[in-house]
Amino acid sequence: MQTSSTAGTLLRRVLPDPEKPGRVLALMSGVERAESLDGLAEALRKAVRAVPLGRGRDLLHGRWLGHPVHPVLVEVPVGAWISAAVLDTVPGGGRAAGLLVGVGLAGAVPAAVAGLVDWAELERPQARVGLLHATLNVSAVACYTASFAARLTGHGLRGRAYALVGLCTMGAAAAVGGHLAYRQAAGANHAESVPHLVPPGWHSVGPLEDFPHEQPVRRMVGEVAVAVVRDGDGSCRALADVCSHDGGPLSQGHVEDGCLLCPWHGSSFRLADGWNATGPATAPQPAFDTRVDDGRLYVRLRTPPPVRH
Ligand code: FES
Repeated sequence: MQTSSTAGTLLRRVLPDPEKPGRVLALMSGVERAESLDGLAEALRKAVRAVPLGRGRDLLHGRWLGHPVHPVLVEVPVGAWISAAVLDTVPGGGRAAGLLVGVGLAGAVPAAVAGLVDWAELERPQARVGLLHATLNVSAVACYTASFAARLTGHGLRGRAYALVGLCTMGAAAAVGGHLAYRQAAGANHAESVPHLVPPGWHSVGPLEDFPHEQPVRRMVGEVAVAVVRDGDGSCRALADVCSHDGGPLSQGHVEDGCLLCPWHGSSFRLADGWNATGPATAPQPAFDTRVDDGRLYVRLRTPPPVRH
């Protein structure tokens, strides 16, 4: 009886109180609000954006994949380093573990580059948390580099110790990355809910004369905002207003070469079908059919969602 009550007390101390945010969440909220990180973040962001990557930038964002490529690339170092940790506990496994530590280090490079390119296009609270994520990852890489060097010079025990610290640091970095992706929705498709929210059928968005040429206008369809653009030839196009990249208002952007450009980070969406012609957006924009009836413009969500052709 005494034992179970002691265990219960211990559990209550270890597990977060369901009625409170918990220390981890409080810490992450503090990082989100840490304006002192903005100077460093801005300087780094400028440096990353200045690298002349050309079309490689969209490749690294994962536009070709339809979602960020960074979480895919991190599988290599994470898998290699966890496997190395297991092998380090097996007699005679040190050599193979050392090889995996090296594989992880090589795999960390493209993962870090893709992550940096994504990070440079985030809003400030996300960028602050991203800085912490990157710092922890750099620390993990430093530990594994030390581990690799120690193993190469015959200091196997020291190599294992460095790897263990690296593994714990990588775990912390992964938790922060989870906060960034799931709590702050960095990298998520912010227009995903649009097809579920737009009522079926045609909806009037106002008299045609209310839509100036080549100038986006925001209209509501039920609870969904739509950016409407009247082409130079008089035909009308409509896309969901909330940018799939990070929720920017497309109706405050501008039209260029048949695309609507987001005012926040410059993603361009083809007006004809919502295709994300350039990133950082990795998901297309929900598009609407349009028709004019009795001088009024009507829109209807186009299904199925736009695909590349
Ligand atoms: S919100 Fe980032 S490009 Fe639109």
